[in-house]
Amino acid sequence: MKPIVKKVLRRASYVLAAVVAVVAVLAIYVQVDGIPRYPQTAPVVTVTSSPQRIERGRKLAGLICNDCHENNETHQLTGRHMTDLPPEFGEIYSKNITSIPTSASAAGRTASSNSSCAPGCAPTGSTFRRGW
Ligand code: HEC
Repeated sequence: MKPIVKKVLRRASYVLAAVVAVVAVLAIYVQVDGIPRYPQTAPVVTVTSSPQRIERGRKLAGLICNDCHENNETHQLTGRHMTDLPPEFGEIYSKNITSIPTSASAAGRTASSNSSCAPGCAPTGSTFRRGW
């Protein structure tokens, strides 16, 4: 091998080693310290209700949200077991996004407050994976 090629290859290997070292240090940092966290402050939002807004919300929810959140028996957005998902995604429940208490949501709340259920619990109390 020509000396110039050797020299280029040696330098390239140094650069590669440096990149691997930086990635390794970052991976160790994230492993030890966890995913970065930032202090959050909830924005103060004031929403005034009007019949037009409620109708627009009903339309938007019908277009975007109902497929997953509408309970097929009550037709309320109280969440449901998403049985139409492939089993590879695990057992997933959409949440009750109303203020209507349901026995399922009450069971879910009770189960979720149990830290052994983290990151989440199905309304039945069994654990499930996050939807996304
Ligand atoms: C593809 C299905 C799907 C669609 C579409 C969908 N959701 Fe959801 N949503 C879910 C699932 C599943 C969960 C439960 C996720 C979890 O517990 O981690 C959820 C959770 C929620 C939550 C609770 C979040 C929390 O942290 O507790 C809210 C609020 C919500 N959805 C609102 C909406 C709204 C509003 C829309 C329409 C704009 C919508 N979702 C559309 C599936 C969906």
